Amino acid sequence: MGRSGAEAVVDLWLREPADTTGSTAPPGLPLLDPVELERWHRFANAKSALSYAAAHALARNEIGRLADRDPASLRFDRTCETCGAPHGRPRLLDVPGLHLSLSRTPTLVALAVTGCGPVGVDVERRGATSFDGFEQVALHPDERAEGRGSIDGVTAWVRKEAALKALGVGLRTDPASIRTPPADQASEVVVGHPVVSVVDVDPGPDMDGHAVAVALVGVAAPLVVRLH
Ligand SMILES: CC(C)(COP(=O)(O)OP(=O)(O)OC[C@H]1O[C@@H](n2cnc3c(N)ncnc32)[C@H](O)[C@@H]1OP(=O)(O)O)[C@@H](O)C(=O)NCCC(=O)NCCS
Repeated sequence: MGRSGAEAVVDLWLREPADTTGSTAPPGLPLLDPVELERWHRFANAKSALSYAAAHALARNEIGRLADRDPASLRFDRTCETCGAPHGRPRLLDVPGLHLSLSRTPTLVALAVTGCGPVGVDVERRGATSFDGFEQVALHPDERAEGRGSIDGVTAWVRKEAALKALGVGLRTDPASIRTPPADQASEVVVGHPVVSVVDVDPGPDMDGHAVAVALVGVAAPLVVRLH
């Protein structure tokens, strides 16, 4: 979960939310804290609620295991930098130096953890982005003018969102206002912010309907993602 020789290592867990159709509550729910339970209760969509619970239980279980802590006892700060509500970037209060990022779709949840610096992960269902106008949202005008060449819209989207999450700004920066970060090298994604390294992740044959990217702030060394 940190540096390994000259490499910066990010551990990544990709999981399908467990199917709890017919049962009353998703597994992992007892691990969640009052803030997480309150958000879980507010989801109107059952699949979104399920993936929310799955992502947060995954974070608690894996970080608890890494840090040798009781998963339910872990405390997170999630203060939104814009409004102060607890829906912002998660920060671990109990394990100094360990960074995490979460992403969720109804069909896949992701947890990235590292000791190497602020990290971002993004997952997207390819099918969810195949609508007219998606490239207007995902691509910089120069990239659209260059045409469909080296990069498709969903790959651009997850790279940008992973980088913006690593920087902590999220979609306060319009993804169409920045160029797609190149994979496997550090670049200045947002002017005036630290450089970010981005890698594309192959989620494997069972999950190949999803695009996945991981980003790490301030890394010139090769970035290695260990998939669990
Ligand atoms: C972060 C953001 C990019 C996530 O977009 P998304 O594709 O809908 O969701 P994902 O599933 O990929 O990621 C969600 C996770 O990102 C994390 N997150 C939230 N804000 C974040 C931020 N500023 N930086 C990094 N990560 C953030 C949270 O862990 C969140 O998980 P949770 O909702 O289960 O707690 C988007 O929600 C965003 O930009 N939010 C901030 C915008 C803002 O500040 N608006 C003002 C609100 S008052």
